[in-house]
Amino acid sequence: MKTFQDKVAVITGAGSGFGRAFAQVGARLGMKLVLGDVQRDALDAVLVELRAAGADVEATVCDVSRASDVQALADLAVHRYGAIHVAFNNAGVAGQGGYLWESSEKDWQWVLGVNVMGVANGIRSFVPQMLAQKCACHVVNTASVAGLISPQLLGIYNASKQAVVAMSETLFHDLRVAGADIGVTVLCPAFVPTGIFDSHRNRPAELTEVRQLTPSQIAAQQAGEKAVQSGRLSAADVAELTFEAIRTRRFYLITHPKILPSVELRMQDILAQRDPSDPFSYKPDVAARAP
Ligand SMILES: NC(=O)c1ccc[n+]([C@@H]2O[C@H](COP(=O)([O-])OP(=O)(O)OC[C@H]3O[C@@H](n4cnc5c(N)ncnc54)[C@H](O)[C@@H]3O)[C@@H](O)[C@H]2O)c1
Repeated sequence: MKTFQDKVAVITGAGSGFGRAFAQVGARLGMKLVLGDVQRDALDAVLVELRAAGADVEATVCDVSRASDVQALADLAVHRYGAIHVAFNNAGVAGQGGYLWESSEKDWQWVLGVNVMGVANGIRSFVPQMLAQKCACHVVNTASVAGLISPQLLGIYNASKQAVVAMSETLFHDLRVAGADIGVTVLCPAFVPTGIFDSHRNRPAELTEVRQLTPSQIAAQQAGEKAVQSGRLSAADVAELTFEAIRTRRFYLITHPKILPSVELRMQDILAQRDPSDPFSYKPDVAARAP
């Protein structure tokens, strides 16, 4: 997609971090925006900010783990603007972290519901509309470097983001089989200062555990908070790189190239059929360690 003026973008998780930054860049480029987020006050703040800047934008509360909410977001875009040209399946949560064997069923249900089913729901609701339009469109799925390597103490998040990479690769192939003019980008950032390690703020009550955190869960949370706060790229930087990837139809967008040796090492481990190397052996300062 070469130009963005008057094109319609749908963005999930638009109330904070990357989603808000996508919306800001989209507004600057003259896009019409449809924003969804589960956190109403954050979403409203972005809506007010963008409208004050002159953007043509709508927003609705949307829990991406619910297929009907995501369909309602797609319907809002089509009813208000008549099309969806770019879909950002971006909403995500970090979850609790900690040793896998200490994670509960509710820990799994929450993270997989948002990170995996959120993207699946977006593909199901946005792509058929794009196919019907028969014009150039693009899907951005926010994964993570955790979709390419498996950092310690983040097992559920890793599993969820590796699913997002797999869904994105398959979507790419499926769209080629279908002969569709729809690009795909899988966004794989490393650590960026956003609200991601404060994601329990939006954890549904019915999926919340009443418990004392284990030392490994505390270690994961502390390491995550420290790592994102030390991130040098901003959400705005990631959004600019993402729009460039849409412009150039780039599939893999790894915003922090310093992580590539870790990805390569993992691939080599697989090819050599040897034990997995430490995913942060090139960047030991950010790894969560055993408590
Ligand atoms: N910040 C990082 O370091 C980093 C790195 C790699 C990938 N990511 C991914 O980037 C995406 C955006 O996260 P962020 O870093 O901007 O964090 P963030 O917490 O600032 O923003 C995430 C947004 O998603 C929303 N959200 C949470 N649950 C939701 C749900 N069920 N339905 C709809 N919206 C929901 C939150 O309210 C929030 O506004 C996530 O998928 C995250 O996993 C972040």
